[in-house]
Amino acid sequence: MEYPIVVANWKMNLTLSEALILSGQIFRNVENIKHVDIVLCPPAVFLYPVIDGLRTKTKNLYFGLQNAMSEKEGEFTGETSLNMVKNVCDFAIVGHSERRRLFLETDEMVNKKVKFCLQNSVKPIVCIGEQERFHLEDHFDKEIERMKKQGGILTQIDTALEGVSEKDLSKICITYEPIWAVGTDNAASGVYAAAISYIIKNHLKEKFSDHASDIRVLYGGSVNSQNVREFMMQPNIDGLLVGRASLNFKEFCEICQIASQVKSGNTSFKDN
Ligand code: 13P
Repeated sequence: MEYPIVVANWKMNLTLSEALILSGQIFRNVENIKHVDIVLCPPAVFLYPVIDGLRTKTKNLYFGLQNAMSEKEGEFTGETSLNMVKNVCDFAIVGHSERRRLFLETDEMVNKKVKFCLQNSVKPIVCIGEQERFHLEDHFDKEIERMKKQGGILTQIDTALEGVSEKDLSKICITYEPIWAVGTDNAASGVYAAAISYIIKNHLKEKFSDHASDIRVLYGGSVNSQNVREFMMQPNIDGLLVGRASLNFKEFCEICQIASQVKSGNTSFKDN
């Protein structure tokens, strides 16, 4: 087993000085939090100043992009190439629901980005999610069918991972982020998120047999220090993608601390 992973998605928030203060506070605190891999995803424009500001690196703190273009360079106004940050970024969030909804990213674009990440030794954190809550209690088979339809979460995974080789699977995180839970204070319950993670893992097993267990499945959507334990206690949930709560260092460090406590005993992602 690997360490759990906690990813901070700062989205388009903070001023530069706020980003420097927050990253410094997190840095000083996470040094003492063991058995958890922590990934900070600041706005791309703050990435280098934040990393420069920290000067040294702690073992369990990594950086990621919130979005990455699937090309090395060229006429892509406003985009950031992985090639520009690959020396400092170990991760990139790919296919976040806000990118899909507001910037019309398709599963095919997500697939290109996943492959481009892997070619550049960047680990993709692939987001998938549904608009409306599944009702697994009453309609299990029907809901599984819904997941397999065009646009369904299992189809999102299939397309995102098309053409990815088995040797690269250990570098991929799938983040289950139900759209109805993102930014709403209406998180899924731990049991619900675990049930969906179980379905995702089963699907991956059918697809990739033995190598499926190499893929980590995260949960995201209104995670905070009050509900983090509920998610991390679930054996099928390997980590978290945190939005608003990652903008407050006490809250975020508490989330990391609890994730570490609950899952302690796992080994490090770096060992891959
Ligand atoms: P919140 O944690 O603010 O709901 O955001 C979730 C998210 O979108 C993380 O990527």
